[in-house]
Amino acid sequence: MTEHWSKKKQIIKLLDHCRYTSGEMIAQKVGISRTAVNNHIAQLADYGIDIYSVKGKGYKLSKALPLFDESLLINGIEDRCFFFDEIASTNAFLLQHSDELDSGDICIAEYQSAGRGRRGRQWVSPYGQHVYGSLYWRINQGMNAAMGLSLVIACSIVSTLRTFGVEGLGLKWPNDIYKDNKKLAGILIELSGQSMDECNLVIGFGINMSMPAQQAEKIDQPWSDLSSLDTMPDKTNLLLALHKQLKLDLAKFEVFGLTEFIPLWQQYDLFYDKEIELVMSPKSIVGVCKGIDSQGGVILETDGVQTAYIGGEISLRGTL
Ligand code: BTN
Repeated sequence: MTEHWSKKKQIIKLLDHCRYTSGEMIAQKVGISRTAVNNHIAQLADYGIDIYSVKGKGYKLSKALPLFDESLLINGIEDRCFFFDEIASTNAFLLQHSDELDSGDICIAEYQSAGRGRRGRQWVSPYGQHVYGSLYWRINQGMNAAMGLSLVIACSIVSTLRTFGVEGLGLKWPNDIYKDNKKLAGILIELSGQSMDECNLVIGFGINMSMPAQQAEKIDQPWSDLSSLDTMPDKTNLLLALHKQLKLDLAKFEVFGLTEFIPLWQQYDLFYDKEIELVMSPKSIVGVCKGIDSQGGVILETDGVQTAYIGGEISLRGTL
């Protein structure tokens, strides 16, 4: 851990979201000056942490800050785990190092300065508040064998979250995870160096745990997080379980394809049997959603005829 983060993490551990901690006390415990405390607190705000500061009282977090336990994470994952307090993007990191990676290797960060979302969007990634991770996976049968894989990953996330007692989950084709009809998690799969017989996949996932108010203002769609649960899942345990589930599901997918995942998808499909509009700019198609096919396409029924649609730029518009 860099010196930059070691002091900041000591300060974070002294802060609480229920009571104020005095600057004096922080300075003493961390062994730095009051001015240094002020500077660190100001920098933490730049990393997206909402901290209240009241003269005479000290500092208080606006929300709980559920940090990873770095050593539990690294020791608990049987593959290589690259952990960062701060990185541009976990996907970008694995893409840059794909030549040296093995299937199952994972990159986790507490903060992303350039978190990537789908369709060139930014993924808001404040420090410590959420889960940002990317898994590396190599498929030997070429790019076509990866079709539908993003739906498998969405199923893995749902399966894992439900083991932690998360309710109100739903899936929106092709790979968004919703909670109470608002987006909870997203997936971004990027490819590197694919050929006829090999395909290197970087599977990025972001799960909202505890969204600070100021960060929420940057998000242009309804979102949800896990902070309202009676017991919020521990981020480290969640990640360890998710890593296992992803590996199991990817191995299953390579042998059996998507068919094995269709029942789970259907159980959580937010749009099943609902009238939807499938937007494929510049045109769009309206029909009744009939789930997914074995290639990962969304099935639309129009005038009694069912057709599957697939493609990167397709988006679904429907009323939930
Ligand atoms: C989406 O737009 O729904 C996809 C969001 C994917 C975000 C994750 S966070 C970890 C990984 N690294 C990135 O830069 N993006 C993905």
